[in-house]
Amino acid sequence: MTIDAKEVSIVADRSLAAEGRLKIDWVQAHMPVLNEIRAQFEKEQPFKGLKVSICLHLEAKTAYLAEVVQAGGAEVTITGSNPLSTQDDVCAALVEAGITVFAKYNPDPREFKDLMVRALESKPDLIIDDGGDFATILHSERPDLMVNIRGGAEETTTGIIKLKALQKEGALKFPMVAVNDAYCKHLFDNRYGTGQSAWDGLIRTTNLVVSGKTVVVVGYGWCGKGVAMRAKGLGANVIVTEVDAIKAVEAYMDGFQVMPMIEAAKLGDMFITVTGNKAVINGEHYPVMKNGAILANAGHFDVEFSKPDLAALASEIRTVRKNIEEYKLEDGRSIYVLAEGRLVNLAAGDGHPAEIMDMTFALQAVSLKYVNDSYKELGAKVINVPYELDERVARTKLSALGIGIDSLSEEQINYLDSWSS
Ligand SMILES: NC(=O)c1ccc[n+]([C@@H]2O[C@H](COP(=O)([O-])OP(=O)(O)OC[C@H]3O[C@@H](n4cnc5c(N)ncnc54)[C@H](O)[C@@H]3O)[C@@H](O)[C@H]2O)c1
Repeated sequence: MTIDAKEVSIVADRSLAAEGRLKIDWVQAHMPVLNEIRAQFEKEQPFKGLKVSICLHLEAKTAYLAEVVQAGGAEVTITGSNPLSTQDDVCAALVEAGITVFAKYNPDPREFKDLMVRALESKPDLIIDDGGDFATILHSERPDLMVNIRGGAEETTTGIIKLKALQKEGALKFPMVAVNDAYCKHLFDNRYGTGQSAWDGLIRTTNLVVSGKTVVVVGYGWCGKGVAMRAKGLGANVIVTEVDAIKAVEAYMDGFQVMPMIEAAKLGDMFITVTGNKAVINGEHYPVMKNGAILANAGHFDVEFSKPDLAALASEIRTVRKNIEEYKLEDGRSIYVLAEGRLVNLAAGDGHPAEIMDMTFALQAVSLKYVNDSYKELGAKVINVPYELDERVARTKLSALGIGIDSLSEEQINYLDSWSS
C-alpha cells in the first residue's frame, strides 16, 4: 500500500515548504553528477516498487538525494541523523514532493529516537544510514522491521566502525556498502568538505577571528587533515594531537606542531575534535585550559569532548549566543562549547558545500542501486564501493568541470603490465 506523505509525515511546520524548495533548487543547480544519475534513474526505474528509508543530516543536499532516489521509483521515507542538523523548511518541502518525513529541528532525545524508529516502520527494502543509527535499531530493538531488507549504504567513518563490529560478531544481517571508504567520498567530503564547513560553522557562530589564534585539531585522519589545512590557511598556529604514530609523523611533515593533549590543552584558543572517539578532551584537560577557550566538535557524535566532565567543573552554564554555551568554572575561568558538542558544520551551519556532496551523494545513489542489484550474491557483509562506480563519479565530475585528462596508450599499458621491459 502506498503511503500518503502528507497524511503521515511529522514535521515542524508545513507552511515553510516554499523556503525549503528554494534551498533544494539552489543545491540541485550545483550537483551535476547527481543530476546525471537522476536522469538515468528516471529512465531505468531501478527502485520501482521498493521502499527506501534514509537517515541523514536533513538539509537541502540530502533532500535532493532523497528526490533522486524517489525519481528511481522508490517510496522514500526520511529522518534526521542529528537533532540539530535538521532544517524544518527543507522537511516541509520534501513532504510537498511526496516524501514521507519524520524529522524536526531540535526534538528532545526521546522524540528524536522515536522519529528515527517511525522512519523504519515502513519495513524498508533498502536503507541509507549515517553513523549506524538505523543499523543499531534494526539489529537490537526492532529486528521485526528488518523483514524486507535487502541491504543499504552507510555514509560515515563512525557508522562503518559499528557495522564492522557487528560483522565481527557474526551479527550483521544484510549487506551494507561502505560509502565513506570510496575515494570520491573521504578524499573530498571528509577532507575538503569538513575542512571548509567546520570553519564556516565555527566562524559564523562565534564571529571571531582565527588568524593569530592557536587552534588544536584533535585527530589527523581524513577530516582532521582538512580542518588543520584550512586553519593554517586562515592564519592560525595549528597544533595536532594524535594517538596513531604514522598520522602524527604525517602531521609533523605537513608543518604542524604535534604534542599530547595535556600540553596542547594549555596552549589552545580553539579546539576542534575529529576522531570518531569519545572523551578525547576530558576532566584531565579542562583544569589547564586558558580562560575563554572554545570547544567545537566535527566528529559524528557529541561525545568527543566530555561535556559531563566539563559540567562537573562548572558553577554555571548559560547560553551567551545562539549555539554557544558558556561553562563558568568555579575558579573563575570560562570555557565555551559550540552547538552542544554536535558536529559544528551541520548543527551550526549548512554542512558541506553542494559541489562536495554532489560526489558523496552520487556514490550513495549508485551504491544503493548496486546493493539492490547484487544483494543476493553480496551476503551480510560490509562491502566496498566497486572501483568502477568510484571512477564513474570522478569522470562525471571532471566532465562537469570541463576538465579533460589523458589516457594510457597501448604501449604504456603493455609497459605497465610487464615485468621484463
Ligand atoms: N563533520 C562532518 O561533516 C563529517 C564528515 C565526515 C566524517 N565525519 C566524522 O568525523 C570523524 C572522523 O572521521 P575521519 O574520516 O577523519 O576518521 P579517520 O579514522 O580517518 O581519523 C580519525 C583520527 O582520529 C585519531 N584519534 C582517535 N582517538 C584519538 C585521540 N584520543 N586523540 C587524538 N587522535 C585520536 C585516529 O588515530 C585517526 O587518525 C568520524 O566520527 C566521522 O564519522 C564528520
